[in-house]
Amino acid sequence: MLRCGVAARRCESADDASSLVSVTTARAATSRLPTLLERLSRLSTARGFDAYRDVDWGDPELAIDPTDPRLVLVDDDPLATTAWYRSLDEVEQARIGLLRVAASFRTGWHFENLLQQGLLHRALHLPNEGPEFRYIHHELIEESQHTLMFEEFVRRTGLRVRGMPGWLRRFTETLIRLLSRHSPVVFFAMVLGGEEPLDLLQRRALASGRVHPLVERIMGIHVAEEARHISFARAAIEHEAERLHPARRRTVAFFTPLVLGIMVRLMLRPTHDLVEGGVPREVVRELYRSEPGRRHLVDAVARIRALMVDLDLVTPSARFMWRRFGLWD
Ligand SMILES: [Fe+2]
Ligand SMILES: [Fe+2]
Repeated sequence: MLRCGVAARRCESADDASSLVSVTTARAATSRLPTLLERLSRLSTARGFDAYRDVDWGDPELAIDPTDPRLVLVDDDPLATTAWYRSLDEVEQARIGLLRVAASFRTGWHFENLLQQGLLHRALHLPNEGPEFRYIHHELIEESQHTLMFEEFVRRTGLRVRGMPGWLRRFTETLIRLLSRHSPVVFFAMVLGGEEPLDLLQRRALASGRVHPLVERIMGIHVAEEARHISFARAAIEHEAERLHPARRRTVAFFTPLVLGIMVRLMLRPTHDLVEGGVPREVVRELYRSEPGRRHLVDAVARIRALMVDLDLVTPSARFMWRRFGLWD
């Protein structure tokens, strides 16, 4: 069971919502979506976190020291498996580990911001009295709290990280509003493409049991709340997929792995920030060509892939795209 330090009781909400993920099987979800949304809204009301109330930023135990051995990357991080990383001394491994977390947190909040824009745009056109309208606003509030936590952490590291490239932020900003309203399946697949890889990265770090306490606190809160968001996105995909016209299904099936391929790489491999921080470019380039790297990509989309198969949203041409982007098991 996930624990979150002093507020362990509240972090148990990850388990509650994770159980919702597993029970929202295809077909059954359509009739249960309103019930699920009402339950998620109640959980958000009862267990929502605040970035400054629930993280003790002033606690000396949580201070960041870039040489802290607890910042060394966990063993199954693809970068940690490279000969280059293993050749570094512990202080340098910790510095790169901190850089990796900072880059992932800044990329994370850039993604949260874009997701929020899509959700806000969707909410503007929803019936106000429906359960989705209320739940979307709970999620928006939670994503803002995550953004505050992530950015406060990056600020305290003093590191210069960029996160998502500017051109991609601008492009996605335009695209996501259109998708959220007119192609909800691809929109929610894009949401999962950002949320699931980050969730996997953070769950693995927490499971390793050797994480810096501030990183552990932030990740613990994030994983707990993301379980609700992932649960909503999956149920929304199931709900919307049933209403797709057959021709539209083929288009959606084709574009989903393309969107996922970009999102997953973006979330897992912050090339620019790693290279700027001293990781050789060829090491980054090889990162997801190695066996541990390929496995990481495949694992990051395992649940989305299973959902798409379950919903008959993997046509032969779509399967080619899944393989092309290295996302097929
Ligand atoms: Fe988040
Ligand atoms: Fe989220």
